[in-house]
Amino acid sequence: MINYRELLGEERALVAPYQPGKPIKEVQRELCIDNVIKLASNENPLGCSDKAILALKEFLPDISRYPIGDSYYLRKKLAEFHNVGMNNILIGAGSDEIIQILYIAFLKESEEVLSPAPSFGEYYLIAKAMKSDCRWIECNDDLSFNFDNILSSITEKSRFIFLANPNNPTGLDFGEQDFIDFMDKVPSTIIVALDEAYKEYQEESRQIDTNRLMRKYKNLISLRTFSKAYGLASMRCGYIIAHEECIAMLNQIRQPFNVNMASQVMAEASLSDGVFLNKVIESNLKGKNFIYRSCEDLRLKYINTEANFIMIEVGDGKKVFDELLKLGVIVRFLGHPKLNSYIRVSIGTDKENSLFIDKLKIVLGL
Ligand SMILES: Cc1ncc(COP(=O)(O)O)c(C=O)c1O
Repeated sequence: MINYRELLGEERALVAPYQPGKPIKEVQRELCIDNVIKLASNENPLGCSDKAILALKEFLPDISRYPIGDSYYLRKKLAEFHNVGMNNILIGAGSDEIIQILYIAFLKESEEVLSPAPSFGEYYLIAKAMKSDCRWIECNDDLSFNFDNILSSITEKSRFIFLANPNNPTGLDFGEQDFIDFMDKVPSTIIVALDEAYKEYQEESRQIDTNRLMRKYKNLISLRTFSKAYGLASMRCGYIIAHEECIAMLNQIRQPFNVNMASQVMAEASLSDGVFLNKVIESNLKGKNFIYRSCEDLRLKYINTEANFIMIEVGDGKKVFDELLKLGVIVRFLGHPKLNSYIRVSIGTDKENSLFIDKLKIVLGL
């Protein structure tokens, strides 16, 4: 008789699947409460641009048609936006699909990915799904990346180094000079993937000019997403900026209709709405300062963040996560040994942030 577990193989069968933040509806159903807020998946509390909604409505009559396979118009818009060539861009169904496309194209089973830990779990999970490996390289005690550690961990098996900047879950970023010093030491045959999912939230003076650096380092690639600041998480749309030879090779193995048309038109329209993006960034900054001040009043330590979420030290992180959930506030407990005393909270609307602090006070008895 067929044995599916055996077919998958014991190593892959034992990998714990990705644990997304609990959906609001699930918590409402389980706890039989109506008032639930979700600050668990670094989503955009302001939704998305009205221009994107309008683009979706206008597109609807064409839903029976296949999407534009190479996302031509979205790539054209992005090329203008970033001042790069259209051939430097590939669109995917979120960064997740882009990571998968990269691994299918360039990662052999015998090779491995390196990434500092703690960081975004998908680098590991997708590598495992592809029968390859991802080796986590411990960060410094203050949770900043240890570039020397990463460099000394490189072996002949290393094919990718994934660096989330700002990092999830810490919210920490690194500077351009440190990165250049690092790139100068990385063998040019290893692909360095800068995952810039939260770049829009970073102060402009802290942002690395990745597109300029790419002209010097052919092995440098940048991953971007519409899921965060643009508020299109549900649409699954992200992109990679890289050397045209890299993009051409990825196109060899990309599925012909990998990005649905609704996502393409919404993402394209979002890029024309700078007003909405500024509103998102301002609101995030205001929420961040409110949560910082509230933590200081409550004498709780937190990690300064460059993204749309904050790590707060609360004692027993798992217990506080569970207790907040019972009060209808979904946050995230990461479960990494260095983060046991933390919860990660996504910055929400003013109302959500206040409610979170009120419930946190109840849980901590403050
Ligand atoms: C660092 C990082 N990269 C990528 C993603 C996923 O982005 P996407 O929704 O485009 O797959 C996330 C989502 O939480 C993230 O934290």
